[in-house]
Amino acid sequence: MNILVILGSPRRNGNSETLARTVVQELEQQQTNSIEYIHLNKLQIRPCQSCGGCEKTSVCVIRDDMDALYEKVDAADRLFLVTPIYFYGPTAQCKTFIDRFQARWSRKYLLAKPFRQGEDRKGYLLATAATKGEKVFDASLLIAKCFFDAVNMAFGGSLLVRSVDKAGVIQNRPEEMARAVAFGHDIVEGRV
Ligand SMILES: Cc1cc2nc3c(=O)[nH]c(=O)nc-3n(C[C@H](O)[C@H](O)[C@H](O)COP(=O)(O)O)c2cc1C
Repeated sequence: MNILVILGSPRRNGNSETLARTVVQELEQQQTNSIEYIHLNKLQIRPCQSCGGCEKTSVCVIRDDMDALYEKVDAADRLFLVTPIYFYGPTAQCKTFIDRFQARWSRKYLLAKPFRQGEDRKGYLLATAATKGEKVFDASLLIAKCFFDAVNMAFGGSLLVRSVDKAGVIQNRPEEMARAVAFGHDIVEGRV
């Protein structure tokens, strides 16, 4: 099974990355899994230019690091979209990556050209935020669900952690670390 982890924070080893690594560690115990982590902040990804090119050809006109990512997302069986919350949404790195999947949305909904189907493919949102805000994850959940639909993946669920700010402070929250281990275990067992 191919597992792809898309890290949207510019901070290395921050709260969202720590959360993701704790969840995905559970999947590492299955030796059949290949696991790849992508730090979006290290890549050159231009924002969608709304040129309409993909509406005609289903392929984005921009040539940059997204070229490889389309293929990796197509090949993924489990995809983790991992982001801290910035102004009630995903980071710009994460949103820029997502917007470029307009090419897949066009392929699916405008051109009806087939690409890898949803046979047991699942996407998960893992996100962290500094505040306790009740609605702090709402926008990112909607965006993630829309993204997973565009790439032919079912939404498998989310793990959302509030009240973590300083980089890595999530490690001092044993109850959240335990939730992450349990979430990983639920994925392994096929419960989510
Ligand atoms: C530009 C910016 C905007 C932020 N906006 C929010 C916000 O709207 N709500 C919130 O709860 N936390 C906000 N935060 C805090 C981060 O979501 C929080 O520190 C998160 O745990 C960082 O994860 P990371 O260590 O993986 O980068 C913001 C942080 C930054 C740098």
